Amino acid sequence: MKAASPVTLPYATLIPLDRQAPNGLSQQVTTGVIRLIQQGLLPADTKLPGTRTLAALLGLHRQTVVVAFDELETQGWIQQVASKGARISSRLPVIEPRPLPAGAVRQLAARAGFAYEAVPTYPTTVRAPRLPLVLDAGSPDSRLAPLAALARKYRTVCLRASQRQRLLGYADPNASLALRRQLAHYLHQTRGLPAQVENILVTRGSSMSLYLLLRLLLRAGDTVVVGERSYHGADYACRQQGAHLERVRVDGQGLCVEEVEALCRRQAVRLLYVTPHHHYPTTVMLAADRRIKLLQLAEQYDFIILEDDYDYDFHYDGAPILPLASADRTGRVLYLGSLSKVLAPAFRVGYVVAPPDIIDALGQLRRHIDHQGDAVLEQSIAELFAEGELGSHVKRARNHYQQRRDVFCTHLREMASPWLSFEVPAGGLAVWVRFAEKVNLGEVAAHCRLLGLGIGDGQLFQTPTERRAHHLRLGFAALTPDELTRSVEMLHEALIQQ
Ligand SMILES: Cc1ncc(COP(=O)(O)O)c(C=O)c1O
Repeated sequence: MKAASPVTLPYATLIPLDRQAPNGLSQQVTTGVIRLIQQGLLPADTKLPGTRTLAALLGLHRQTVVVAFDELETQGWIQQVASKGARISSRLPVIEPRPLPAGAVRQLAARAGFAYEAVPTYPTTVRAPRLPLVLDAGSPDSRLAPLAALARKYRTVCLRASQRQRLLGYADPNASLALRRQLAHYLHQTRGLPAQVENILVTRGSSMSLYLLLRLLLRAGDTVVVGERSYHGADYACRQQGAHLERVRVDGQGLCVEEVEALCRRQAVRLLYVTPHHHYPTTVMLAADRRIKLLQLAEQYDFIILEDDYDYDFHYDGAPILPLASADRTGRVLYLGSLSKVLAPAFRVGYVVAPPDIIDALGQLRRHIDHQGDAVLEQSIAELFAEGELGSHVKRARNHYQQRRDVFCTHLREMASPWLSFEVPAGGLAVWVRFAEKVNLGEVAAHCRLLGLGIGDGQLFQTPTERRAHHLRLGFAALTPDELTRSVEMLHEALIQQ
């Protein structure tokens, strides 16, 4: 059967061209022809119009069509013969599943065929992520995040970058200069941290910063001081480096620094991990005199302070206290920050503030596992910072979270006795709750699950001296006041049922 003469096809209509589009015109011709082949309008062996004719039909320069034909040939869609022109290939590059030959492997091995050191499972706070309501350990409400503005910005930056070929190549492992500039400004404005661009490394979340820092600074057998209850992620990361953890008491004023001092007198301490603004998990603030004492001890006993300031931006009562890093003049405090609570954990933007030599060493380490961060995202966030969008969002979110904290604490207080007790946190995204002796948190969590509410079973926060788990961090920020009301009702019901 003779194929219809392709010249009669209305190419100008069938191959729509957009001169403003970021992909070039020859690429549009290439994809246009491929689409016509896939739709069956250009069957195998069909002769295509010559490049000059097609260029005239489409109103293009002939060379644009020549480039498109060359690309189509490279991809195997057409064959070009000198002086005879181009034809649709008789063997189109269609990927068809081929039956497996007899005896071929039908499934990959279920286990590795060699021995390796087991990696401990990373601890999680709530094991019920798909339930309609979850009182987690303190996530933000990503529904409040300026997602539309970020999406628009990401698109704009991406298209701008594709035209100028900027941003899309390999770049500085320390992150985009624009974002580091904005962060330096933000840290200075919001928490008196006099950081310069060369003091900042941006990573994919502060977990990555934490890992890199510990990888750089710890050797097997080093002693790390943490609170008797501390951030499980940091405990885990220190152990991964072979460090030995020494725990000190945490009371209503934060870490007990006299215990830190007593420990330093007995043994060498390499590093102290602390969350002074809102202690993780108990939410208390480290008292001013203890901050000063900690800085003195670090100098006297020559240890590093790793200050994790995971939710500094959300403080409701009184003025937030400046980070330890703002007062450090001896280069011993390393500061970790994150945008996970400001935007949403999924965007993976965290940072380290440290002396430039540490930043450069971390950048070199980071290169081994992740050449750089998401440069388009970093540029987008930098522009949102510069336009004031992120600053306004933090203010809006802080108002919402304060209202949610108050609603949540009011409801909790109404049902508290005889089940639980707590202090209203001055900041952060969670309430630290102590449950009565008679409460079995494992059973309560199971009952909650049946009612559609996710809560932790408290095991993560249990100290070795406690026979049973009695504490939970209950995050209030991710749920609306209405959802919080329903959650507390469910928790109450589960407590009665257990
Ligand atoms: C105390 C603390 N530090 C660090 C992180 C890690 O945050 P990210 O890796 O998302 O920046 C978290 C996460 O919840 C946290 O609670």
